[in-house]
Amino acid sequence: MSKKKILITGGAGFIGGNFVQYMVEKYPQYDIYNLDLLTYAGDLTKHQDIEKKGNYHFVKLDIADREAIMELFEKEKFDFVTHFAAESHVDRSITEPEIFVRTNVLGTQVLLDAAKRIGVKKFVHVSTDEVYGELDFDPKTFFTEETPLEPNSPYSASKASSDLLVRAYHETFGLPVNITRCSNNYGPYHFPEKLIPLTISRVLNDQTVPVYGNGKNIRDWLHVLDHCKAIDLVMHDGVNGEVYNIGGHNERTNLEVVRTIISTLEKSEVLIEFVNDRLGHDKRYAIDPTKLEKLGWKPEFNFETGIAQTIQWYLDNKEWWEQIISGEYKGYFEKQYTMK
Ligand code: NAD
Ligand code: DAU
Repeated sequence: MSKKKILITGGAGFIGGNFVQYMVEKYPQYDIYNLDLLTYAGDLTKHQDIEKKGNYHFVKLDIADREAIMELFEKEKFDFVTHFAAESHVDRSITEPEIFVRTNVLGTQVLLDAAKRIGVKKFVHVSTDEVYGELDFDPKTFFTEETPLEPNSPYSASKASSDLLVRAYHETFGLPVNITRCSNNYGPYHFPEKLIPLTISRVLNDQTVPVYGNGKNIRDWLHVLDHCKAIDLVMHDGVNGEVYNIGGHNERTNLEVVRTIISTLEKSEVLIEFVNDRLGHDKRYAIDPTKLEKLGWKPEFNFETGIAQTIQWYLDNKEWWEQIISGEYKGYFEKQYTMK
């Protein structure tokens, strides 16, 4: 029997990168294809250890390049597609929305067409809880799979648009799809523009940490490995056409997150700097993961164990994030935070 072929888009980024490593190790019997354009958010140094493995392959391509994507799918005849590639940072979508529409909407549609043409067995679309909009601060309210889509940022609007296309390809063409909507991830290889790695890297360098508004906005944090396990489960056992929310009930205010990192690193809270709020800043996200738990998923990390592991990883892997923050990221940081 021939080996199953799994295409992972965005496998040079944070979550896709962790998923590639998890899959290459767990399934030597599968051929894993990592397709990535290597934008500012993608890097392959993280895959040095798996590059020598026979079941790992890399393809540099733009998901919105229709001709090249069609050609690749015709040639490789993938069995499964897990689609992570996206523009993912809310702040960048506020200053430059257009690329979000191109990559997240058009790119997804191109992949759907290609998946339909070759008849893949499953297309898992990795989406986000942000498509549901925001919750108020009542701790008894959660996003379920039935919560209406009310995206507030250009990023979440582009992700919601792609979700609707995925749904439509299932309803119209019978494409076997799942949509997953996960809460905020953290863990190894998280790009230092996002709150947790930004805080860890800046605190380690004794630099101030910009906290938007009053720091009381709430996010529901999930360790990236628990997200990877959920995608693996959905890819194999998800019921076609279904949406699955992913989250582990780890709600924290942004200020709590920043304070936890500062105290773990034994630094002072004078590093906290309150800056102008993000435009349209969603108040609170919180996931009800009951449906996925019924499918057989259980997270391994809670926030305490996950954040401790993550801080240690950033201490042990300074060369990875130092090489990022000393490059073009410097210009991004100055532009983003002097505008505030
Ligand atoms: P990321 O920004 O770290 O990585 C995105 C990857 O996609 C990069 O490697 C980049 O090079 C690649 N990419 C971008 N444009 C491309 C294109 N046109 N063609 C091919 N590759 C391209 O993102 P992430 O945080 O790892 O998020 C991955 C996915 O998970 C996204 O779809 C995001 O919406 C979703 N998600 C993220 C989170 C989170 O907390 N980070 C939570 C829920 C869902
Ligand atoms: O909920 C899932 C989403 O989580 C994903 O879909 C996105 O791709 C991912 O980037 C993330 O979005 P957020 O906007 O929630 O993540 P971010 O790390 O940018 O911000 C987390 C919170 O911290 C948010 O309330 C804004 C705040 N923040 C962020 C930055 C970068 C600050 O206070 N200061 C900052 O400098």
